[in-house]
Amino acid sequence: MLNFEFKNPTKILFGKGEIAKISNEIPKDANILMIYGGGSIKSNGIYDQVKEALKNHQVHEYGGVPANPEYEVLVEALQVIKEKKITYLLAVGGGSVIDGTKFLSAAANYAGEPWEILKKPVRTFEGEGMPFGSVLTLPATGSEMNSGYVISRRETNEKLSSGGPGLFPQFSVLDPEVIRSIPKKQIVNGITDAYTHVLEQYMTAPSSADLQERIAESILISLQETAPKVLSDDFDYNAAGNFMWCCTMALNGLIQKGVITDWAVHAIGHELTAYFGIDHARTLAVIAPSHYRYNFEAKKGKLAQYAERVWGIKEGTVEEKAEQGIKKMEEFFHSLDIKTKLSEYTEEYQGTAERVEKAFTERNWLGLGEHKNLTPQDASKIVAMSY
Ligand code: NZQ
Ligand code: ZN
Repeated sequence: MLNFEFKNPTKILFGKGEIAKISNEIPKDANILMIYGGGSIKSNGIYDQVKEALKNHQVHEYGGVPANPEYEVLVEALQVIKEKKITYLLAVGGGSVIDGTKFLSAAANYAGEPWEILKKPVRTFEGEGMPFGSVLTLPATGSEMNSGYVISRRETNEKLSSGGPGLFPQFSVLDPEVIRSIPKKQIVNGITDAYTHVLEQYMTAPSSADLQERIAESILISLQETAPKVLSDDFDYNAAGNFMWCCTMALNGLIQKGVITDWAVHAIGHELTAYFGIDHARTLAVIAPSHYRYNFEAKKGKLAQYAERVWGIKEGTVEEKAEQGIKKMEEFFHSLDIKTKLSEYTEEYQGTAERVEKAFTERNWLGLGEHKNLTPQDASKIVAMSY
């Protein structure tokens, strides 16, 4: 097992009715900016619950953070933070709102052009951001219990990630009741995103980190078993709770400790969102199968272990089991009605491989993957395989 340090300071308030407790988590004299998205919280009652919980606090609001949080919009919110002398941020939303809030937390005290923060090497924000908490409304990204974030800039077709130890939420509320109002399309996105988060930290080379590998496999199995229950028309509170906690556990740092991690699927996937606006999770389902086939030799041991332990495939050689594992993964995505080919999302897919190669070369992203040996040319071939 590799050496590691582990610290996750986010306090989780899990369960029905926990939103009411946020007033205990935020200092009484805080000047709060409540940040939310396109308005779903106003029709599903979450907005009212938050306002009721904070009725004795001073609360300003900033709504309208779009999915794939947009830099231009966030710069507006930054003005509000400065004008109103905000001291505490509260994200009420999915990954986009929480990510946007993390960026604002980092940018609030940054003197230069805020986009510079995104241009620095990932996760190097060492200082303390403005304190913030979150009320999660959409299980998917794990942003509620990690310190990373991803921001888009339409003007330049970029989608870049950043983060750092000073950007964990102080608290996050995980109330499974919020799942009642989520459209099925977003629920399957959430399952696919969390599932791929586990794969990025697991589908590398066999390791000696037995516990991390088995926790990872357990999250995958739980997501597979929970999927039909959370997609059923009848709301199942316990299934919703399991789904929510799986998403958080998939990316709160635990399973990546002591092992090598990949993240090439995300790096390439973000380009597809930046070029075509494809939902984040769906870009992952497009890239993952091609990535695993392209890097089959390096990953076949783990792919075979995945097939065996997660899907119960006991027959065949390592190679046969590994290929079966990829097929099972694709079938799982298809069972969620998630398509796995780029051409199924856009007619303008020709030339994407070249575009990715150019972008990664320009950004000096010369070594992706767990061994940092995937070149922009490799990324280009992976994208071409996914057409
Ligand atoms: O904007 P509103 O009106 O709130 O509607 C949202 C949005 O349209 C809606 N929604 C959220 N909760 C709802 C709801 N609708 C009804 N009922 C509810 N309870 O769902 C839509 C999508 O929301 P969004 O926040 O964009 O989705 P998600 O949570 O999947 O976040 C995606 C973003 O997170 C980034 C992605 O790249 C993408 O930008 N990621 C962040 C990560 C992190 N911070 O660790 C890791 C991930 O890999 C990912 O990259
Ligand atoms: Zn993701």
